[in-house]
Parts: sequence; structure tokens; C-alpha cells
Amino acid sequence: MRFAKKTCVVTGGGSGIGRATCLQMAREGAQVVVADLQLAAAQATVATIEAAAGVAIAVQVDVGNSDQVQAVINAAVARFGSIDAIVNDAAMMSFTPIVDIAEADFFHVIGTNLGSVFLFTKYGVPHMPAGGAIVNLSSVHAHATTANVVPYASSKGAIEAFTRGAAIELASRKIRINAIAPGAVDTPMLWNNPNVKSGVEKVQGAIGKPEELAAAICFLASDESSFVNGTTLVVDGGRLDALA
Ligand SMILES: NC(=O)c1ccc[n+]([C@@H]2O[C@H](COP(=O)([O-])OP(=O)(O)OC[C@H]3O[C@@H](n4cnc5c(N)ncnc54)[C@H](O)[C@@H]3O)[C@@H](O)[C@H]2O)c1
Repeated sequence: MRFAKKTCVVTGGGSGIGRATCLQMAREGAQVVVADLQLAAAQATVATIEAAAGVAIAVQVDVGNSDQVQAVINAAVARFGSIDAIVNDAAMMSFTPIVDIAEADFFHVIGTNLGSVFLFTKYGVPHMPAGGAIVNLSSVHAHATTANVVPYASSKGAIEAFTRGAAIELASRKIRINAIAPGAVDTPMLWNNPNVKSGVEKVQGAIGKPEELAAAICFLASDESSFVNGTTLVVDGGRLDALA
């Protein structure tokens, strides 16, 4: 029960990796704040947790919106008193060549993926006691990528740099921050990706389950990883090691 009496905020908790993380944390005793753009999806995760006698609340949020992020933090603190772990899982992709992408669309991806990590760190950390942990979702696209996803790949690369720098700053508070770079994982985000649908991005043979990512996230969010800080753990079934 690594999360007994701990409060965990998970963005993107309505689907895929975020949902699996919420369920795993709840099984291990956490009070889970399930935050998602899709309120019904967040509520479905909460219902699953409650059906197993767990504790969770659903909060609707656009993670790129500062007021809404602060509302999530306030809701978590109002209900549970403090925050022990934050998992920045929610993200979006776009699929347009750089010279064609609208400026607003580029900054929307950056604001959603990277801006959310900044906002949840800035507004969440003051409510985290010593021993707290933040886990940010990067991607193998921070390390090797395909055409037409530069905003996404850039945001994920920046999340890893953010994680390194923030680890230095948060060390004096005894709060750790790490990142996970998943490979292909069996979620709606993977199968809705036009590059995957077209075969431009090949994923055969190396597809993970959301629960396999949740296991790694829970390791980094718990005291079990107390000497791991500022790093990115690649969880991709070995995909990045292959030449093709
Ligand atoms: N699935 C993969 O193959 C894969 C690979 C590498 C990295 N990742 C990363 O893992 C994380 C989770 O992805 P997933 O595959 O579980 O995706 P998913 O599509 O299954 O779930 C994403 C969730 O985030 C929510 N969301 C999207 N935009 C949001 C916003 N602005 N505010 C709040 N919530 C929002 C969605 O409603 C959804 O519930 C993402 O950061 C993604 O980049 C996934």
C-alpha cells in the first residue's frame, strides 16, 4: 500500500495511461483527484474506484488553462488537505507540417503539454509536504520522431529539460520530480494517430499496456524511488534501441 493516506492528482485520468494510474494508485490506498477535459470520463474512473471501495473525486480541467489548473489544486486541498503526488499525464498531438501549422495551434500544443507541467508545478508544489513527488509524461518522440509532429515532440523534449531543472529547485523542499517516456501504448491516443494509421510510424511488436506504464509511474510517484530524481525513465519495450 505505497499510497496509503496519500493524495494523488492525475491529469488525463479519464483514459489510457492516466486512468490506469488512477486505478493502481487507488488500489494502493490513495485518495485520487481524477482531472480531465472530459468530465464524464473522469467520473467513470471515479466510479470504478468507488466500486472497489476506493476514494476519488472527478474534476474537469483544461490543463493549459491557469485558472482551471488552480481550481483543481484548490479542489484537491479543500477535500484532502494537501497533495502528495502529481502526475502530469494529459497531452495532445497535432499533425501538420511546421510551415503550414497556424501559430495558435502550435502554441496550443505547447501550452497544453508543457504549460500544464509548469502550471501544476507552480501551483501544486506549495501544497506538497516533504516527500512529495511529481511525474511528467514525456514520450519517445522527445528522442526520435516522425514528420508533422514537431509541436508535440518539442513539448515532450522540453518536459524532460523542465524535469531536470525543477528537480534542482525542488530538492530543498524534498520534493522529487521525474519523467516517463512511453513508447507505443495501447490507448486511444495511439490508435487515433494518423501517422500510426498510415504506417509512417511503425509500432508492431512493441505495444505496451496502460497498466505497464502505470506501474512505472507509481514507482516514481512513491517512496520506493526515493533516490531517483530529475531523470527520464524510458518505458518502451526496447523500441528506441532498434534501428528501424
Ligand atoms: N499512447 C501512447 O502510445 C503514448 C506514447 C508516448 C507518450 N504518451 C503520453 O502518455 C500520456 C497519456 O496518453 P494516453 O495514450 O493515455 O492518451 P489518451 O488519449 O488515452 O488519454 C489522454 C487523456 O487526456 C485528456 N486530455 C487531453 N487534453 C486535455 C486537456 N487539455 N486537459 C485535460 N485533459 C486532457 C483526454 O480527455 C484523455 O482522457 C500523454 O502525455 C501522451 O503524450 C502516450
